[in-house]
Amino acid sequence: SAPLRVALLGCGVVGSSVARLLVEHSGDLAARIGAPFELVGIAVRRLGRDRSDVPVDPSLFTTDAAALVSRADIVVEVIGGIEPTRDLLLSAMASGASVVSANKALLAEDGPTLYAASDRHGVDLYYEAAVAGAIPILRPIRDSLAGDRITKVIGIVNGTTNFVLDKMDSTGAGFAETVEVAQSLGYAEADPTADVEGFDAAAKAAILASLAFHTRVDIHQVHREGITEVTAADIAAADEMGAVVKLLAICERVSRPEGEAVSVRVHPAMIPRTHPLGSVRDAFNAVFVEADAAGELMFYGRGAGGDPTASAILGDVVEVARHRVNGGRGAGESAYADLPVLPMGAA
Ligand code: HSE
Repeated sequence: SAPLRVALLGCGVVGSSVARLLVEHSGDLAARIGAPFELVGIAVRRLGRDRSDVPVDPSLFTTDAAALVSRADIVVEVIGGIEPTRDLLLSAMASGASVVSANKALLAEDGPTLYAASDRHGVDLYYEAAVAGAIPILRPIRDSLAGDRITKVIGIVNGTTNFVLDKMDSTGAGFAETVEVAQSLGYAEADPTADVEGFDAAAKAAILASLAFHTRVDIHQVHREGITEVTAADIAAADEMGAVVKLLAICERVSRPEGEAVSVRVHPAMIPRTHPLGSVRDAFNAVFVEADAAGELMFYGRGAGGDPTASAILGDVVEVARHRVNGGRGAGESAYADLPVLPMGAA
């Protein structure tokens, strides 16, 4: 088959891993798909930075993302943020490109606009990397469990806060000093707000709940409480009970007299050390799923980092590429029912 033209939007930590793996694995990928990839460009904010770690022809770098998406079959987006990313992805789909995105903020803020465009133009929209990095969790929920009925999804989906809480547990130190340690080790960002206040986990919870319960949950409907108030005394009290404190993203199907609903919330919670989620250390992520027929499932792995996140992105790229070669596309917006979302995560 003719080469599939891939445009990469963004070339930070994740983008450079994606570019490198596309090049390094090009032979294997072509064999798996039945057509080779051609990387047609990498959109960056400015030219002139040293990008010698990215093994591609330097002429592929461009600051004109809009022109780049118009000549691609598959657009891979790792820029993040709402605008101009949303416009770029909408115009990519309008010109017939499939989209692979890692953009949890955009999907949690305005997923339906993207799904609608993907339906309208008959192109794929995949975003496995948006939740829990390398862990395959969205496609298992959307596809592998599509014949089951998911009742609960509980995730440790933010590595930074898990690292901080785990360190507080093992050292007995307080929150503020542990965040400084996490920053010095490169786990927490200079401004750790998105992680420690639970915004990052809330975006991921909205995406998980939307897919698990076939409804629309946006980030503003997620009850959110971060870990900034968790003290060394809280951790010690949990320990006395054989428990640990974790920042959990809890998505539940709730039965009420007036019908089923969905509750989605992010907050610190005590869980027994013997629970599968209780043994998740360091900056690892894990997602625990309960479904009627499958029972309990647990997914575990690295939730961040260049190569782990690129692994999830490349998996999506292969899937959408196979659809382009063989026909068909992934589940679209038509799969959605409208279960109500309870205000403020009330259960
Ligand atoms: N800041 C996120 C985390 C990175 O700590 O898990 C991945 O989304």
